[in-house]
Amino acid sequence: MKFDAPATRNLFDDAKIVGKSTPRIDGPLKVSGTAPYAYERHDVANDQAYGWVVGAAIAKGRIAAMDLADALAAPGVLGIVSTLDVEPVAKGIGANVSLFGGDRIDRYHQPIACVVAETLEQARAAAALVRPRYEGGKGAFDFEAAYKDTPQAEEPDTLGDFASAFAAAPVRIDRTYTTPAETHAMMEPHASIAAWDGDKLTLWTSNQMVAWTQESMADILNIDKADVRIDSPYVGGGFGGKLFVSADCVLAAMAARTVGRPVKVALQRPLVANLTTHRQATIQRLRIGAGNDGRITAIAHENWSYNVPGGDGETATMQTKVLYAGANRLIAEYCAELDLPEGNAMRAPGEAPGHLALEVAMDELAEAVGIDPIELRVLNEPERHPTSPEKAFSDRNLVRCLREGAERFGWAARNPVPGARREGQWLIGMGVAAGYRNGPAMKSATRIRLEGDGRIVVETDMTDIGTGSYTIIAQVAAETMGVPIESVTVRLGDSDFPVSCGSGGQFGATSSASSAYAACVALRRAIGKKLGFDADDATFADGTIRAGNRQFSLTDAGELSAEDEIDFGKFKQDYAVGTYAGHFCELAVNIYTGETRVRRMLAVCDAGRILNPLSARSQVIGAMVMSVGMALMEELVVDKRFGFFVNHDLAGYEVPVHADIGTQEVVFLDTLDDVVSPLKAKGVGELGICGPGAAIANAFYNATGIRVRDYPITLDKYLAQLPAVA
Ligand code: MOS
Repeated sequence: MKFDAPATRNLFDDAKIVGKSTPRIDGPLKVSGTAPYAYERHDVANDQAYGWVVGAAIAKGRIAAMDLADALAAPGVLGIVSTLDVEPVAKGIGANVSLFGGDRIDRYHQPIACVVAETLEQARAAAALVRPRYEGGKGAFDFEAAYKDTPQAEEPDTLGDFASAFAAAPVRIDRTYTTPAETHAMMEPHASIAAWDGDKLTLWTSNQMVAWTQESMADILNIDKADVRIDSPYVGGGFGGKLFVSADCVLAAMAARTVGRPVKVALQRPLVANLTTHRQATIQRLRIGAGNDGRITAIAHENWSYNVPGGDGETATMQTKVLYAGANRLIAEYCAELDLPEGNAMRAPGEAPGHLALEVAMDELAEAVGIDPIELRVLNEPERHPTSPEKAFSDRNLVRCLREGAERFGWAARNPVPGARREGQWLIGMGVAAGYRNGPAMKSATRIRLEGDGRIVVETDMTDIGTGSYTIIAQVAAETMGVPIESVTVRLGDSDFPVSCGSGGQFGATSSASSAYAACVALRRAIGKKLGFDADDATFADGTIRAGNRQFSLTDAGELSAEDEIDFGKFKQDYAVGTYAGHFCELAVNIYTGETRVRRMLAVCDAGRILNPLSARSQVIGAMVMSVGMALMEELVVDKRFGFFVNHDLAGYEVPVHADIGTQEVVFLDTLDDVVSPLKAKGVGELGICGPGAAIANAFYNATGIRVRDYPITLDKYLAQLPAVA
């Protein structure tokens, strides 16, 4: 199905199942512990041996030699895969480092060996006997020191004459904000089981993008893609950290070949932060010039970040291209080359930390011009895309998000004077931020089968990373085929299934569900052909097909299958397709101890049709929790001498949980976006992490009168400035 013009009225506008809160069909499996995650696939291959990963203890240099004799002689050991035995493997899709091989060390905890044994304990014990001899090299690990000389990553995005307009502006904000490196901290670490059958490899793994993994593993092992099967039906969180192949996959495959048995490898938790990818730190300078009336005349956002050679920085300026009007603009990205671990996608890459700067700068501007922060945003709402004015917004309801949020949150009760509201020993503040994240849709394919008993089976290599893919795909198939959702079976994550968009960039829901629709339409036509009616004029409802004055049951068609993909036309390039939110927070700060408590959070989201309000709400709530981490807690601390993240486990890297927050509320506007897909639905998961952190920071300022511009906002940065109390 080619989607090459905006959607018109279709069956989803009268939907009975799509758009209704539907409990996750995989929910019972999850809560009963019977949804098997990669490391728990005990039944898929006999005689699984255990691999233990040895990570390099230096960040830069080479391994001169590695003594494996004691490790090989240890009880239960079946074999060892050593980095000195293989050439550096090809980089997988999306990756900027080779995951294994060679004597060079380019990052801390880079895998240098995988010890395989009969039991996990034996593998772990033997791994301690591996003796590498390092020759340490000099590396660049200090971002703050490097950033000033950082080259521009791309041509800056400019419009008008920023410098003159800024110089002439009656009100000027010029602030620098910093955000730290962060790790995904997903519950399920990266894990894989590998089994060879002759030349054919099967990998049961945990990955967001099955087709990329299949192709990457074929490249890495130098084998035919057709000889690699990937199976990733359940993923215990990814957040971008499982978009690309990780070392467990490579090591399991190599180790299984070496020992001639299936091998399972999970990355030990302390390796995950340094060995896999992370969200890079940023230094962001925001300059906003405005009239005394609050209208922005000049806006500049410069962002410095870093990566390994060939990689991009954390591109934090994207929302600044879209959110506010202003005729004179300068947006620039700088990327330093450092020898820290690879930086790559983490939930809403770019925008998530970008909002922590832009949306606080807007709060600072609101105070400078003496205008309510919501009114300031409304005043600067653009008519067309402000940086690319040739583009019209497909649908944009940011003002409604802010207004409706203000109403529901009780914004009118906010005291604009910072530090003025106190309840006992608590200072109370309220903050607001706008949220923006793009609304992409990608090519995606699905196969659908009608079984003899009328059941519908849907197969696609789409993944469910805790997001609810199983359920929305079942909803769309049930709606389109006119059957109850209980009659639909969804199978995901297998490379033997048609290639989907995968899970990432909040494109998964609308793309994969649209492809399920496309495949269902193809199946309806196949049924019509078999039974002799025109499927496009027929109604499929309640298990019954009505075509003219004839009536059929789905079972009349016997067994049939159809496959189709949704593919998106160029017309979309004329539009700016985005998702928008108004984020609100009420925060309490203890005047004696400085402790922060997030009392209330609200997100009002504009993301087109919401396919399943129940699972979409869970997505947004989870992202809001993560935003609390970004604003108040999370930071990978860099050891600048030795080049590694110090707090590389879940004891040292603090993340918030849902219970840390008083109440969280999510409201979805009833909007439709005709440009995005036949479903008129956009992604919403990442929108939930774009803005709430800034709302928290603004609430903190409103509570205390202290601006902390270096995230996370931790006690050490403000305790001394808290107002003196008697
Ligand atoms: Mo997302 S950071 O594209 O998984």
